[in-house]
Amino acid sequence: MSEAPHLNDIASRRKEYETAGLDLADVVADPIEQWQRWYAEASEADCTEPNAFVLATIDADGWPQSRYLLVRGADERGFSFFTNYDSAKSQQLTASGRASMLFTWLQLHRQVRVVGEVERLPEQESDEYFASRPRASQIGAWSSPQSQPIPDRQWLDQRIEQTAAMFGDGMITRPAFWGGWLLRPHLFEFWQGRPSRLHDRVRYTQVADGWQLNRLAP
Ligand SMILES: Cc1cc2nc3c(=O)[nH]c(=O)nc-3n(C[C@H](O)[C@H](O)[C@H](O)COP(=O)(O)O)c2cc1C
Repeated sequence: MSEAPHLNDIASRRKEYETAGLDLADVVADPIEQWQRWYAEASEADCTEPNAFVLATIDADGWPQSRYLLVRGADERGFSFFTNYDSAKSQQLTASGRASMLFTWLQLHRQVRVVGEVERLPEQESDEYFASRPRASQIGAWSSPQSQPIPDRQWLDQRIEQTAAMFGDGMITRPAFWGGWLLRPHLFEFWQGRPSRLHDRVRYTQVADGWQLNRLAP
């Protein structure tokens, strides 16, 4: 007797989304709200690190650079994330004032592209977020000259020991070289994988009185 095929939750959900697709009539007028819906669905579907995204920047020589980060906020202003302000990415963000974020929830066959201008988050928000981080992460932020060449792992381990000794049991305040960025989007694209490569793409472009929606060819 053959066993019934095992349809796990993620596979069946993905199929549901692929079958239902994405239509201009299904999406909400506010793209941040639409992103929040998809993020909630990705979380419910147990997608790995659903708040991970690829941040793309342009370096001083015009080369694209990308790396994963974790988004920590999504509100009416845009998306926020935290990093070292002296890092390569922060230098690129400072120089161009522009970036793109790409969220991918592969289990649901979905991606969201976001493009916009970036600015530093108000210091108070960075202070609050830094204070909420585990102590070891706070020590790590103080100890790591992110994106700089270092001699070896031991050098980093020693820096961490020195930083931990310096703070003792005291409160660890945020270093001035670490904090948040806010990306204010002017373009979104929601992509839903569909059978036979006839995927659904919905683009939101910012216009004077809101957002203009278009369906794009796959
Ligand atoms: C899933 C994932 C999440 C990450 N989240 C962050 C983050 O929130 N902040 C950060 O500074 N680096 C994060 N990193 C490390 C970055 O990808 C990157 O190595 C680091 O920020 C240095 O990048 P840069 O030299 O281009 O500035 C993450 C890496 C991965 C794989």
